[in-house]
Amino acid sequence: MNYDELVKKAIDMTEMSYAPYSHFHVGAALLDKKGKIWTGCNVENAAYGPSNCAERTAVFKAVSEGSREFEAIAIAGGPEDASGKPQIQDFCPPCGVCRQVLSEFCSRDFKIVLVNGKGEQKTFTLGDLLPESFSLK
Ligand code: THU
Repeated sequence: MNYDELVKKAIDMTEMSYAPYSHFHVGAALLDKKGKIWTGCNVENAAYGPSNCAERTAVFKAVSEGSREFEAIAIAGGPEDASGKPQIQDFCPPCGVCRQVLSEFCSRDFKIVLVNGKGEQKTFTLGDLLPESFSLK
């Protein structure tokens, strides 16, 4: 499966990121099992704690609109340059909290596609990045 369109949307979403505190801009694009793409960016807050990551923004947008079954997510992120524009350099793997939120809705074979500044992609499964995850089942 080719996730180039998903990756492009994640990169585009870094432009929507609201990151006046960390100056680190993240974009995500989440593909549901019906083929719809839900996008997200990080949204920071002056009190820091209420900030939301790009991945969770995408998941919460999807779930709140009735979509709960997902195939893949693409993530891109990086620091801003002197003009405030996001620069994607290294791969930007999801934080632990986002991995746990993804595990609520996604199976172990859910794909996590990362992209770096050279346009190279690295694909993991959720099982790779969150082994032995917590579940009440
Ligand atoms: N961030 C994300 O959006 N996703 C992650 O998985 C890791 C971190 C955001 C949070 C914060 O706005 C900025 O990146 C720096 O940590």
